[in-house]
Amino acid sequence: DRKDKGTEGYCSSSYTMEIIFFTQTCVWWRLRRLFLALMLLYVFIPVIVKLCPSIQAKLVFLNFVRVPYFIDLKRPLDQGLNHTHNFYLEPEPGVRVGVWHTVPAHMWRDAQNKDGHWFESSLGSAQSAILYLHGNAGTSLPAGAALTAVLFQVLSALGFHVIAFDYRGWGDSDGSPSELSMTSDALFIYHWLKVRLNKAPLYVWGHSLGTGVATNVVRRLCDRDSPPDALILESPFTNIREEAKSHPFSMVYRFLPGFDWFFLDTISANDIYFASDDNVNHISCPVLILHAEDDAVVPFHLGKKLYHAASRSQSLSGHKVQFVPFDSSLSYKHKFIYRSPELAHILRY
Ligand SMILES: *[C@@H]1O[C@H](CO)[C@@H](O)[C@H](O)[C@H]1NC(C)=O
Repeated sequence: DRKDKGTEGYCSSSYTMEIIFFTQTCVWWRLRRLFLALMLLYVFIPVIVKLCPSIQAKLVFLNFVRVPYFIDLKRPLDQGLNHTHNFYLEPEPGVRVGVWHTVPAHMWRDAQNKDGHWFESSLGSAQSAILYLHGNAGTSLPAGAALTAVLFQVLSALGFHVIAFDYRGWGDSDGSPSELSMTSDALFIYHWLKVRLNKAPLYVWGHSLGTGVATNVVRRLCDRDSPPDALILESPFTNIREEAKSHPFSMVYRFLPGFDWFFLDTISANDIYFASDDNVNHISCPVLILHAEDDAVVPFHLGKKLYHAASRSQSLSGHKVQFVPFDSSLSYKHKFIYRSPELAHILRY
């Protein structure tokens, strides 16, 4: 360390004629140290991730990110939803998950001051319903309540009942997340909803990471010969490996030798696959894919690739498979497709 002190010594005696030269040396030394520190950090992170694979799972689910903290999930009214009821279901004994039920907008007056029983029995006369599966942090109910609230306004104005919930580990739901538990929670809520609808069409709508849950759920429903009336995938990806590879977070590491081994294999080690590109080979119901060209979180080409996989699928032949791109000039990005005035037309079609 004597060398460093020497350098700093030069720095402070910089009133001499050689002031410029020494200042430059000083900056050069500092830059070198900064560069070394960054290099160490750069190598350190993948090693840590490989040694503690659970970190990687947290990065995929991001369920610990709770912004904004001040949203009270028990009060959908705060989000402008005056026709939404908050309640809890138990997909597994001892595991409570938070659910929001929004009735069609034209029923908003009737819905004032009504209890859970009224909301539940309103499903019996529903025309159609949507089970909404949210993505990770940015779009889950707590973080994105305000955001999803706008989508629920749009969908309820189109006459749908919308059922949304936080998977275990998100929002005010119990437990911690895994791909398996997200899928089984969604299946549980699907069946809860299905038996309360009187033969009305039921659609499964997934957004972002929720599209992976959606294809898992619909695949299982199709395996049991009880497909939903349609599957709607908003900003979907092919599988989690390809998504992780294209995610902005992994940008700096994409060219690191062993990227797959350090990062992608670690995701698989956590039993996280979200293999929608495989699931579409086992799905037999109409599929609608919505994707904005300027999506920076899930790149557009992954949605398109999934569409191509779906249109080649044997199980989907004879079913309508539709891909609706949204031009970059609309700036819908990852989560503003609900702004499209075309949505009503697209969904009716
Ligand atoms: C309640 O919500 C409905 C549907 O979004 C809206 O049309 C209505 O204006 C709202 N009423 C009040 C009093 O905010």
